[in-house]
Amino acid sequence: MLLSLLIPSIFSSASSEASEITTLTLYFIIASVGILLTVIGLLIYVSVKFRGKPGDPEPRQFTGNKVVEGVMITIPTLLVGGFFYLTLSTMQTVLPPADGLKPEVVIRGHQFWWEAQYAGKNAVVANEIHLPVGRRILMHIEAADVIHDWWVPELGAKMDAIPGRTNHLWVTIRKPGVYEGACSEFCGAQHAWMRIRVVAQPEAEYQQWVRERQQNAVTPTTASAVAGAAFFNRETCGTCHRIRGTVANGNVGPDLTHFASRQTMLSGMMPNTRENLRRWLQDPQAVKPGAKMPRFIYSKDSINVLVDYLTTLK
Ligand code: CUA
Repeated sequence: MLLSLLIPSIFSSASSEASEITTLTLYFIIASVGILLTVIGLLIYVSVKFRGKPGDPEPRQFTGNKVVEGVMITIPTLLVGGFFYLTLSTMQTVLPPADGLKPEVVIRGHQFWWEAQYAGKNAVVANEIHLPVGRRILMHIEAADVIHDWWVPELGAKMDAIPGRTNHLWVTIRKPGVYEGACSEFCGAQHAWMRIRVVAQPEAEYQQWVRERQQNAVTPTTASAVAGAAFFNRETCGTCHRIRGTVANGNVGPDLTHFASRQTMLSGMMPNTRENLRRWLQDPQAVKPGAKMPRFIYSKDSINVLVDYLTTLK
């Protein structure tokens, strides 16, 4: 289908929940197109068949037609009732209540990135969220500051992330792959660059990935990386960022414990490369204006050792 070329699209659903929603959407499209074609068809038929010719007398005048009125009330009522039922049953299938159930992962929206805490696992990541395929996952959706909205079209429903409230989503991913999404509620200057990447993996691979995330950050070995770590601590970067196993334990910005294992940086804005990291550290506000990272004035050498340190954090 042509629409599935628009990636990511709801027409290339990769989870059971997304398929349910897509099927319902298709029913709506079929019904709407059917009604549109019927109305246009009747309009053309009536215009041609009953068109006036020169010299015609005034047509017969009448008001009211019980049969036509009955049909015009019954068909829309049945359609609305039917779709109401289909919508409710889809909602029930896709998003049943989850009160008291333990989530697999707690997703928290921040200006302008996503935090994911693997419940009970002491594993915290940012922006690139791994999930297992083949089983039903419960996700909690929360917000740290303003309202955000989680939406990965191929994986199903959108869900608002609201400060002070815990919303939830169920997702049963069918096939491994990388699924992209974006924040879908305007939340500030970098709303458009609040992308999401969900990496769906077979269960064993996923468990292995979680185990690796649970480990503390690697200790730097090269002289340059050691200098970078010292610089990181001296500049109190750890007031905002956490690097598990070190004194850095802030939770304002993304957890950097396994920063170098991510494919992208700045919430999916660009590939995670040394060059991009250097540009970012030199002038965050030029790269992503409005992000919470302040502009510090660092020398080239300081930035080089910092990059050497951060790129070891696999
Ligand atoms: Cu977060 Cu828009």
